[in-house]
Amino acid sequence: ATDKVEETSELQWSLLRRGEFSQVNGIILQKKVCDCWDKIWNFQAKPDDLLIASYPKAGTTWTQEIVDLIQNDGDIEKSRRAPIQLRQPFLEYTNMTYWGINEANVMPSPRTLKTHLPVQLLPPSFWEENCKIIYVARNPKDNLVSYYHFQRMNKLLPDPGSWDEYFQTVLAGNVVWGSWFDHVKGWWKKKDSHSILYIFYEDIMKDPKCEIRKIMEFLGKNLKEEVLDKIVYNTSFDIMKKNPTTNYLNEITMNHKISPFLRKGIIGDWKNQFTEAQNKQFNEYYEKNMADTSLSFCMEP
Ligand code: A3P
Repeated sequence: ATDKVEETSELQWSLLRRGEFSQVNGIILQKKVCDCWDKIWNFQAKPDDLLIASYPKAGTTWTQEIVDLIQNDGDIEKSRRAPIQLRQPFLEYTNMTYWGINEANVMPSPRTLKTHLPVQLLPPSFWEENCKIIYVARNPKDNLVSYYHFQRMNKLLPDPGSWDEYFQTVLAGNVVWGSWFDHVKGWWKKKDSHSILYIFYEDIMKDPKCEIRKIMEFLGKNLKEEVLDKIVYNTSFDIMKKNPTTNYLNEITMNHKISPFLRKGIIGDWKNQFTEAQNKQFNEYYEKNMADTSLSFCMEP
């Protein structure tokens, strides 16, 4: 029986990966996302919606779990009511194996939603309704290494090939959800004119309580110190890795044996992946592409 499951999933694996991508305004997205783009673009946000936005692999799930625990006053039982992807629908993954717009539309308010869309593709109703948004960003080197391993294990994304091939693909900007540079810079700029809390993976790592407090204040909550400590503990890498509602997500599309979803959770893993030449090339590319922004990243542990 086990062999049969393996066989089927191998077949599914290659079928799902064949020609399944298209573009919206130059941004590569899954074809299924593009096919229902009108519906996504016309999504009606509500004023009390909270949106968690990020480039893929920036620490989205971490932020989602922190937010959910803050909203539930640190009550773990409440936060473990369902897998994270069923607590906070993934906007553009409508028509995929996730919860998207259809589920969001019938959810009671206040809702928390997730997106990886670049700022220019966010449905306009979020701006019109003045929704609060939390954007989490991660240094590009670790972000891309994490994305590489995620593409290896996730059937909904293109096969990344070897690391060397993937590195060149990234520099050419051929990545689902678009270039990391445009994503982080676009959202950074938007925060001057909108209610966006822009946070960094590295900051949560270095001082989780401080960042959790920042999120709490942004959400207009006031939790006691011991509740904050409890949230720090329950959103640590080790606890979230053991928590089936935040790890082992979507075993239909993800092969956790290839690479676990909560993989390493550290700053500086890029040092194990980048060659010296790649690091030099990337640093030059980074300098060039970040010259027009005040945004900067810490890439060291
Ligand atoms: P790695 O692949 O480097 O381990 P996203 O949720 O946006 O897909 O991001 C996933 C990345 O965040 C993975 O990075 C994952 O391990 C990391 N992550 C998730 N929860 C974390 C936590 N509690 N502490 C540190 N890193 C975490």
